[in-house]
Amino acid sequence: MDGNGRWAQARGLARVRGHEAGGERVEEIIRIAPQYGVRYLTLYAFSKENWQRPQHEVSFLMELLSGYLDQKLKKMMQNNVIFNAIGNLSDLPETIQKKIAYWIEEAKNNTGLTATFAFSYSSRFEIVEACRRIARRVRQGTLEPEAICEQTLSESLYTAGLPDPDLLIRTSGEMRISNFLLWQISYTELYVTEKCWPEFGEEEFAKALQDYQRRERRFGRSGETLPQVL
Ligand code: IPE
Ligand code: MG
Repeated sequence: MDGNGRWAQARGLARVRGHEAGGERVEEIIRIAPQYGVRYLTLYAFSKENWQRPQHEVSFLMELLSGYLDQKLKKMMQNNVIFNAIGNLSDLPETIQKKIAYWIEEAKNNTGLTATFAFSYSSRFEIVEACRRIARRVRQGTLEPEAICEQTLSESLYTAGLPDPDLLIRTSGEMRISNFLLWQISYTELYVTEKCWPEFGEEEFAKALQDYQRRERRFGRSGETLPQVL
C-alpha cells in the first residue's frame, strides 16, 4: 500500500495525513473485496525496513495501528472477516501484539474474507526463519534433508495454510516488489497502478480485477497444453 506520503505532500498536507487516509481505504477494500469474489486479501501495512523511518513517523504509524485495532476491527468482525497477521510480530509494541492476538482469536470462527496484515514483514527474513525451523527439525532427527521439498518450505513460512496470491497490486507506480512474499508470488500476476494508496478505491480495485481477468495464466506451460478450466 504505497504512496501515502506522496498523496499527502501533493495536497500540501503532512505525510501522516496520507497514512490516515490510507487507513480508510484499507477498511473500504476489505469491505468490498468479497463482493468481487475475493476470499484472501493480504495487505503490506509495515515492513521490517520501515522501522528506519524518522521516529515521529514510526510512532504515528503505531498509534494509527493501535487505534485501528480498537475501532475498526469490531466492525470488520461483524462483516465476518477472519484476521491473520504475518511478519516478525515480536518487533511490535507489546500492547499492539496483544490486540492483534485478541482479534485473531475473536474472529477465528468467522467464515468470510481472510484479511492478512503484514506487520514488520520482510520476505527474506521470513525465508531465513523458515530455514531455521527446517534445520531444527533435521537436527532433532524428525526430517531427512532429502525429504525437504517445496511444500516443506511453503509450510514453514508465515503464510502456511494460505494459498499463493493470484494477483499482486502495487500502487503509486513503483515497479518493484520491495521484499514482499518473494517465494509466494512465483506465478502471481502483477498489476501496477499510478494511483496512490489513499486514492485506490472501489473503482480502481474493480479495474485491477478486470485487468487480471484478461490475463492468460500459463504457469510455465505453452498455450496448447493448458487445461480448459483455467
Ligand atoms: C506507504 O506509504 C505506507 C507505509 C509504508 C506505512 P509511504 O509512506 O511509503 O508513501 P510514499 O512512498 O512516501 O509516498
Ligand atoms: Mg513508499
